[in-house]
Amino acid sequence: MATFRGEEIEILVNLHCFFFMKVHGNRVEKNEMKKKSRLRLLWYYAIGVIAVWSLFTGLSLLWHHKTTHANALDAARIEAKETFLNHVIYRSWNAGHGGLYARITKKTQTNPYLDVPERDIQTPSGVKLTKINPAFMTRQVNEMAFEKFGYIGHITSLNPIRPENKPDAWETFALKKFEQGKDEVSSLEMINTEEYMRLMRPLITEKGCLKCHAKQGYKEGDIRGGISVAVPMKPHFAIKKVNFKSLVLIYCSLWLTGLIGTFFFFLILNRQVQKRLNVEEELRHHEKLEGVIEMARAVCHELNQPLQTILGNSEIILLEDKGRQIHSNRVKLIKEQAERMGEMTRKLIKIASYEIKDMPQGKVIDIEKSSH
Ligand code: HEC
Repeated sequence: MATFRGEEIEILVNLHCFFFMKVHGNRVEKNEMKKKSRLRLLWYYAIGVIAVWSLFTGLSLLWHHKTTHANALDAARIEAKETFLNHVIYRSWNAGHGGLYARITKKTQTNPYLDVPERDIQTPSGVKLTKINPAFMTRQVNEMAFEKFGYIGHITSLNPIRPENKPDAWETFALKKFEQGKDEVSSLEMINTEEYMRLMRPLITEKGCLKCHAKQGYKEGDIRGGISVAVPMKPHFAIKKVNFKSLVLIYCSLWLTGLIGTFFFFLILNRQVQKRLNVEEELRHHEKLEGVIEMARAVCHELNQPLQTILGNSEIILLEDKGRQIHSNRVKLIKEQAERMGEMTRKLIKIASYEIKDMPQGKVIDIEKSSH
């Protein structure tokens, strides 16, 4: 077991510090910084992935919201169109009969604009009847639809027989579009602070219509006017709201899952990279120490020759000095110190593997433990 005195260890510590800390010190610090910045970069990637994921889910939700809104409008449009088509069918049936007779009541009075023979008749028992033309019937059906379902319907024309049938601004615009060849106009409109889907389609003059409208100069296929229908958006928007709520819930859980997944993925990746960087660092450290030891060994080998010369010559001087005792004490001291140096170099040469210990100057090789 080799024994070292404090001052000898200090020399070695200084030697190590000189070679390792001073020469490689900067590089060690740089490596530490590099390691930190590589790990930080990893978290920047994670933030990037999360940002892209959030943007993607956010935009998808926005797109979905737009789709649900468009779906609500489409549903209302279909409803309005169906209402219009129902009007067309019963009107066509009425016109096919050249008008229908109904009992005169408070609500159903004679139509002063209907100019046909036998407009008002009486049954054999004396019940008074009046002819109901399709437009009159439509007006009454519209009134009922508004009372029962809140639907607004209006039969109109750019050239009305009955002045009250004149179109409003929106209907005038639509009727003009029909004359240009369009067959449907629809849009979301506000009526009395409520949102409605307004839809209008033209009423085309059929053969049955000519019984009453031929005198105004209409021919079969002409646009006689149109019916505008307004469907309340409230129930459609209520459905949209429910749909959108569940959509938000789905998107939020999807986003959160992605977020947690990304976090854990990068956590594992971070650990893996950290492990690898540590191994790399240890390897570098090891290589450097090997180099230092290699050099120390080489120096010791080189020192051996001069030490042998000093020892040999000291022996000769001591032999020659025998009896006179002039230089003996000094030469003995030289020999002793040279032997100590020899002992030290022998130990250093023997270092095959090394042990590291922490010193105030940093990590150093523990010669004591390493040289046996
Ligand atoms: C029995 C007679 C009669 C028949 C058949 C008839 N109409 Fe009329 N129509 C009238 C009268 C009268 C008015 C005007 C008063 C009113 O509003 O009732 C009118 C009004 C209209 C209006 C509203 C604009 C306006 O001029 O006041 C349109 C549109 C219309 N008719 C289209 C048609 C079409 C299309 C047909 C065929 C499917 C048809 N009518 C068949 C008698 C008739």
